[in-house]
Amino acid sequence: MESYETRAEHGTWRLVGADATVPLVDGARRRYVNLDFAASTPALEEAARAIEAMLPWYSSVHRGAGLKSRICTAAYEGARSEVHAFFNARADDTVIFTRNTTDAINLLAYALPPETKVVASAVDHHANMLPWRRHRVTYLPVPESPAAHLAALDSALSDVARGDPSLVAVSGASNVTGEIWPLREIVERAHAAGARVLVDAAQLAPHYPIDMQALGVDYLAMSGHKMYAPFGAGALVGRPDWLEEREPFLRGGGAVQFVTLDDVEWKDVPDRQEAGSPNILGAIALGAVCRALGSGGMRAIAREEAELYQYARERLLTIPGLELYTVWGPGHPHVGILTFNLSGYVHSLLAAILSAEYAIGVRHGCFCAHPLLLHLLKVERAEADRIRDDLRSHSHPAIPGAVRISFGLSTTRDDVDQAVAALKEIAAHGPRWRYECDPNNGEFDPVDDGRPWPDLPVHLTREYVRHAGESS
Ligand SMILES: Cc1ncc(COP(=O)(O)O)c(C=O)c1O
Repeated sequence: MESYETRAEHGTWRLVGADATVPLVDGARRRYVNLDFAASTPALEEAARAIEAMLPWYSSVHRGAGLKSRICTAAYEGARSEVHAFFNARADDTVIFTRNTTDAINLLAYALPPETKVVASAVDHHANMLPWRRHRVTYLPVPESPAAHLAALDSALSDVARGDPSLVAVSGASNVTGEIWPLREIVERAHAAGARVLVDAAQLAPHYPIDMQALGVDYLAMSGHKMYAPFGAGALVGRPDWLEEREPFLRGGGAVQFVTLDDVEWKDVPDRQEAGSPNILGAIALGAVCRALGSGGMRAIAREEAELYQYARERLLTIPGLELYTVWGPGHPHVGILTFNLSGYVHSLLAAILSAEYAIGVRHGCFCAHPLLLHLLKVERAEADRIRDDLRSHSHPAIPGAVRISFGLSTTRDDVDQAVAALKEIAAHGPRWRYECDPNNGEFDPVDDGRPWPDLPVHLTREYVRHAGESS
């Protein structure tokens, strides 16, 4: 935890490991340019400090009488209050600590009343798409404009009878294009039709202030590891009634008041939906980040990132052969996420070159948003069916995809310039190294990759097999 970097513009946030240098495939060393924040972020210094400070006090929560247990309980419940305050949740909203956004959305999907109608969207991450299939779900198509999206939403909600449970599940910001969804309008339409709204805030929360009360959002799901608290905790924040009416998603200790062999008295939320020993340190780290960033901080972060997005967009578009993907184009608000392909390069090869020759870390693939990627890449239905059939017959088809760069608190114009310069060089001169493709997964790696790995006090295995298609 010795190395930090601060973004010049606001000069306050420090991320652990942000000034690391790494080896290139030719033996040189370079500063690591992290452009993969949308997948997972490094820890904010405050999160790491909170963990370090709490480790000597680590103990059980809630049930222990020992002083360490009392202190851990206070810190765990304090973190819950920080998360509640960070999103300006309503006084009676509950904060349930989960593992991540996926866990939070699955919990809500489980807890919906029977016969709930769900309206979700083809633009969403699989985590905000697949859990709803246990209910009556309508997927809105990838819309041509925000107005088209709202019109499709109105139409999808038109058959919901007054009083019937219904939920609109929407992304705060796309993890593929960075576009911010028109939440205020979506909530207004949904509420007018009697529906509640869940915002998948996995990508919005780290970049933009979210005021649940001002927006009227009913539920919010988020991941700590995407918001500078990479210690395994996320949260579901929102109205307690549906979560209280259902039996726990997970059943076990911590969720019960009293058990007999033929009966059980469950606790109220949040404990009811947090069975088992919780991730105390993960929750504390998340609380520490919420406290450090606060809503004032988030406003500054959003402003700076909007500028950085424009800066990057303009420069990326000067690269010959680069195609940038957006749903609605440049005139709409974005978080710092840009996804593209470079003509002549398979996405996995381009990502491998950026890593091996330029020390630039990006994401590539379909970003766990297959329907949206197929739309953006104009993949016909017949081709999508062929890929699925090939996968079912255990062959290894090439899955279309793209390369994504994404920004975080330590991202600077210099990082963007480095990526743009590298892409220009690759477009003009090709790779300087040889790469081979693993036919089992379509992933490229440098031939004779001699980059040494750091000496770490943990077991590092090289046997992990990467799979095609996935990547969030
Ligand atoms: C928009 C969006 N929703 C949900 C998720 C799932 O997040 P997690 O893997 O932390 O559960 C992601 C992850 O990339 C995401 O980008």
